[in-house]
Formats: sequence, structure tokens, C-alpha cells
Amino acid sequence: MHFFRIRLILALVVGVTLVSVASTYIEVLAHTYVLRQELKRRTAWQSKSLQIAMEKSLAAGQAADTVAEAVRLRAQNEALGLAVYDLQGKLVTAAGPAGIFGTLPRGPMDKALQQGADSSIFGQQDNQQWLEEVTPLYADGRMAGAMVILEDANAIHAEGVVLWWHSFWHTAAFVLLIVCVTLSMVRWFLMRPMMVVTDRLRRLRMGQPAEDADDNLEGMSLFAPLAREVESMAESLILARAAAESEARLRDAGEHQWTAERLAANIRERFGSSRIFLLSNREPYMHVLQGKETVCMVPPSGLVTALEPVLRACDGVWVAHGSGSEDALNVDKFDRLRVPPDDPRYTLRRVWLSKEEEAGYYDGFANEGLWPLCHIAHTRPIFRASDWEWYQRVNEKFAAALLEEMEGSAHPIVFVQDYHFALVPRLIKAARPDARVAIFWHIPWPNAEAFGICPWQARLLDGLLGADLIGFHIPLHCNNFLSTVDRVLEARTDREHMTARRDGHTSAVRPYPVSVAFDGSKPERKTPAPSRDELLKEFGLRCETLIVGVDRMDYTKGIIERLMAVEKLIEEHPYYLERLTMVQIAAPSRSRIPSYIELNRKVKETVERINQRYQTAQWKPILLIERQCSHAEVDLWYRAASVCLVTSLHDGMNLVAKEYVAAHDDEDGVLVLSKFTGAATELLDALIVNPYDIEGVAEAIHQALEMDLDERRKRMQRMRHHVMDHNIYRWAASILGDLRELRMESSGTTDPIHAQPLSSAPTE
Ligand code: G6P
Repeated sequence: MHFFRIRLILALVVGVTLVSVASTYIEVLAHTYVLRQELKRRTAWQSKSLQIAMEKSLAAGQAADTVAEAVRLRAQNEALGLAVYDLQGKLVTAAGPAGIFGTLPRGPMDKALQQGADSSIFGQQDNQQWLEEVTPLYADGRMAGAMVILEDANAIHAEGVVLWWHSFWHTAAFVLLIVCVTLSMVRWFLMRPMMVVTDRLRRLRMGQPAEDADDNLEGMSLFAPLAREVESMAESLILARAAAESEARLRDAGEHQWTAERLAANIRERFGSSRIFLLSNREPYMHVLQGKETVCMVPPSGLVTALEPVLRACDGVWVAHGSGSEDALNVDKFDRLRVPPDDPRYTLRRVWLSKEEEAGYYDGFANEGLWPLCHIAHTRPIFRASDWEWYQRVNEKFAAALLEEMEGSAHPIVFVQDYHFALVPRLIKAARPDARVAIFWHIPWPNAEAFGICPWQARLLDGLLGADLIGFHIPLHCNNFLSTVDRVLEARTDREHMTARRDGHTSAVRPYPVSVAFDGSKPERKTPAPSRDELLKEFGLRCETLIVGVDRMDYTKGIIERLMAVEKLIEEHPYYLERLTMVQIAAPSRSRIPSYIELNRKVKETVERINQRYQTAQWKPILLIERQCSHAEVDLWYRAASVCLVTSLHDGMNLVAKEYVAAHDDEDGVLVLSKFTGAATELLDALIVNPYDIEGVAEAIHQALEMDLDERRKRMQRMRHHVMDHNIYRWAASILGDLRELRMESSGTTDPIHAQPLSSAPTE
């Protein structure tokens, strides 16, 4: 940098000086020329005025007197001298510097005498410069000699010298000014942005987040495009480095660990040309209005959290309900779009539902019927025949869309999701026997007695048994399902091989505990995490310890029980007054359904009651954030919270528990987890609680807050290892791998006799 500056200064000095010297030289030449012309004109005029007097004096033989007088009279001016010559050019008389007259060159004299015309020339001797003006003299009409006037020309030279000096000082000042201005410009417009870019790139290289991502780029418009390019290149390099590291880790961990890359490679290798088609009710991206702007948001759904990374890895087609208000404006003519919008990896096909269809199939049968039926949370299921009608029609509608997407794909893989589509496997299998069909039931399957409440249980089971593979989170749900089949249908179930056979088709029933996209690598975080105080500042609150709960506003999540447990904790341990705050993020959900409206009201009421009981000016025991937060926002709360509370009354898996564990790369933090979640069968280092036992939950929170660092670390490390080993990539690889391994009968049904042992059944 220093060397660059010196070279820049030198180049500027030399360049500006050369230009200035050349222009001064031309200026001096021009000025000298003008002065000389002026002197010549003056001298010629004087010569003419002397000529007549001199001719008379010459004729009268008094030339010497006239010459002497003329010189005396003009001595005050520049005149150096005056002389008269005869026709031969010999000096007749002279006044002034006689030495000079003797040495004058003959040229101008001869020219004047020969041509009878004036002639002039500049001459110089030692320090003296002059103008010699020769004028022929006449007597009686004939040439009689010549008069020579010498005019002092030293002033012209002196002026030239002054001009050079002026120019020197000008040039010096000019060079100084240009160097200063240029250096300042280089500093402000080049060096500073360059330093900012360099700093950003250095931070990127070292894996540190940029301070305020785009703000810094604003001030350096010249470099911003370049910086962005280089940054995205650096980010790709970082990703490549992370992939290489995880590759190395994978090699180190043998065949154990699954990553997005490994899943993608595995799917390509296993499925070759077979494409994957996924069906769910909830879409992974919704276009909605926010103010006047359309934004694309990810809805709060455990299913979406789990499946999005899988689709990204295998570029399949995801068919789902287009439920966003602006969805229809953001699809092509086939109702498709590529997602994620900022990095398209797979196709989303949106299916439209009318208000009636949504009310009957989604609000009614799925969420007022099947949801409370499958969750033992003491909310009574409501089954209406009209809802059941809509449910069947909508299942047919989605199956038709799926079949449309599958057209032209040989041996497609169809992966149906959840309780919204129990009838779809049978519909697909009937139309496309060559398809391999799996369905994953993301919610619990209750025991046979409980399921028996549903008037259409046989139809639902029959629809499900159209699938080649039926997945649940835990073995208990598989067993409950097989018992229900046994009890309701004419079917043969095999507990040893976990299959159910009906009408010549066998379905395998397997547990696959769903998970999150955590492969052990540190997530890319663009900004440094705000502290707990910074997060709370927005709400005008302060506390020493934060606990967090993140849920959809759903009665199965045990939100009220959790709030009461926090109240109990403060009651029993007043030490936590003004010290402990629980942040409950509750994303609005299914808000047209009465039981959800009622829950919403109760939660608010409970929060207000507890807060009013304890709150002070800058502290509240409970902070309720009633909106959907992005994954990035939730991640900040997870990391700031010392304890995470998951108190579901019943939950198939619960991914919040796993997300909290994955977020804590500081290996600190305690998870308090309901025993009625699927996650409790895996995360054995959580503090397992019964959410109905309010005192017990309060005590568990207290225990979590009191736990020493060493113990917290050990527990968190073990849970992180488990989630890393049993991540969503392993989940997808297991289900899809097993589906691939099932031997198909020629009719398209699975061969019960030759059903293969499943390749990579999970450990649970
Ligand atoms: C559960 C279900 C998902 C559902 C999610 C959100 O996780 O298993 O299928 O998408 O809740 O509910 P919503 O009704 O908003 O899709």
C-alpha cells in the first residue's frame, strides 16, 4: 500500500511537471516573440524619424554630431547606440558601445545596402542582447551609406526569466494540490471501500458474521457489485469447505451420519430415473400479503420443517394445497412454481380448494375429527357426515393432481403425508400399480378403542392399506395401528414382520422417528446473535434468565399447563421474581375452529392473570409473542434461552425439542420434555415431565435452572449426538430406502412372501 502511494505520487509529480514545463516553454516563446516584434516596430519607427536628419548631416559632413546628439537624447531609453556606415560598409561614426559596432556581423548591412531596404537582426555578446536595425541613407537621391541603431533587448530576456520563475512556482503549487486531491480521493473512494470489502471478506473467510450485512455495502457503490460477487464466491467456498469437512467427519464416523449431500447421492443412486412425488396438505411456501407487499413465507408446521430439506436434496415434485391469499398469482399455467424462491431446487404444484371444500375436509373432518381423535388431549372429536363427504372428494382431487404430475414418469415414488390423505394411497395404487406408495402419519395413532369412535374407521384403514409402506414415529403407534386393523378389517396382520395383508396386497408398517436437518455443522448465521437483553429490549423488558416455548397455538401442546407451571415455580421460589421470564412464541393456527378460538382466549387470559399477579415496571414473568416467527427468529430465542419447555399433552414427535437441541452449539441449555411426545423416547437426557402434573413441571424447571454447567454440558452433548445421528436425512433415507427395497408383485402389489428385510430400519 505504501509503495503504491509513493509510485502514485511520483507519477503525478513527473506527469504534471512535464505538462507544465512544456506549456510554459510555449508561453515564453510566444511572449518573447510578441516583445521582439514590438521592439522591432518601435526601432523601425525611430529609425525612420532619424533617417532624414541623418541624411542631411551626412551630406553636410556632420554625421558624427548628429549621431552623438541622437544617442545622448535617447540614452534614457533602451537605445544602446547609433552608427553611420559608408557605402562600403565601413564605420563612419558611432556613439554608444563602440566595441559592439566593430564586431557586428556584415549580413544585415550588406542586405540593406544591396537591396536599399531596412533590415534587422537580434544579436548578443556576453550578457548583452540587442536589436540591430539597419536603414539605408540617401544623398541627392542616391544611396550614400547606412544608419545602424542598436536597441537594448535585455528586458525581453529578463521577462522570459521571470515568466519561467512564475511558472515554476505555479507548477509546484499545482503539483502539490493535485497530489493532495488525488490522495484524498484514493483514500475516500478507493481505500476505504476497499478496506470495508477486505474486512468483510476476511470475516467471511474466518467464518465470522458480517457486522451489518448490507449496510456496509451502501457506502461503496463502486465496489458493491464486485463485493457481492466475491462474497457469493466466498460463501460457495465456505459451503464447499463445510461439505468437505462433513465428508471427512462422515468418513470418520463410518456409515453413521447422514447429510443432505449423502441423501441426494443416495436417492440418485437408488432411484435412478424414478421421480419422487410428495403430497401434503400444507405447502412449504405460501404467498401472502404483508401490508401492500406480497411475501413468500414458510408456514409453521412440523411436517414442512421435516420434509423441506428432503425435497431440496432430491428435486422432486411437492403437491399441496395453495392456501396463501396470493398463491394463485404466483404460479405458471400448470399451477406450478419452482421453490425455494431464492434458490429453486424442486417443483411445488398448488391445488386449489373452494371455501366449502376447506371447511369440510380441512377444518371439519381432518382437524375437528381426526386430529382430536388421534391426540389424547381430551378434546372431543366431532364427526359430521358432510365433512366426511368433503374429505373423500378432496382426497380424490389431490390424488388426481398427483396422477397428473406423475404422467410420463415410470415407476414413480409417491410419498403421502399425514391424516389429511388417508384415502390417497389406495386411489393412487389403483390407478398406477407401478408406483411405490408410502404414507407417513405425523400424529399419534391411538389405541383401537379410541380410534373406534370414528364412524368411517374401516374406510380410512382401507385407504391407508393401499400403501406399500405405512410409517409412524414410534413402535407404539405401529402396534396401535395393527391392532386397529385387526379389530376392524378382514385383514391378516403379522406382528413379527410388521405387515398387514388385505386383498392380496401387503403393507409394511414401520416406525421412523422424524427429525430436523442437523448434521453437526455450524449453521450459517449472517449476523452475530443478539444477547438476551437485546432481544427483550424490543418489549421493554429485562431479566436474568430466559426460558422459551415455541408452538402452534394448539390445545395438544399443553401451553396453559406450562404457563401454570411457571406461575407455580415463582410461587414456590420467589427468588425468580424479576429474574426469570418465559417467552412463549405461539403461531396462530386453525383459527376458524371453535376449540382453537377458545384456546386462544384462555391462553391470553392466563398470561394476563399471571403477569398481573407478579409483573413490575420492567419485568414480566411471561412474554407472549402471538405471531408466526421465521426459523431465524426462533433460532435467536432458542439460543438465548437457558431452558426450553415442551409440555405437549400428546404429540407424535415434537420437533421443537430437537430444534432447541440443534440450535445450542454452545452445548449448554436444558430441555424439559413431556413424556407424551415421541421425542421423549429418544431424548433421554431431557428432564422428562408429565404436563398434567403442574408441580412436577415447576420442579423440573427449577432443577433445570439449578443444574450445574458440567451436567448441562454432558446432557446437551449426548442429545446433540443423538439428533445429529438421527437427523431428517436419515429419516428420509430410511423410509425411501425401505420403500425401494420392498419387492413388488407383478400386479403392482407387494409380495408378502418375498417382502425383504428392511434395509436401514431405524434403531427405535
Ligand atoms: C402437525 C401436522 C401437520 C400440519 C401441522 C400444522 O404437525 O402433523 O400435518 O401441517 O401440524 O398444522 P396446519 O393445520 O397449520 O397445517
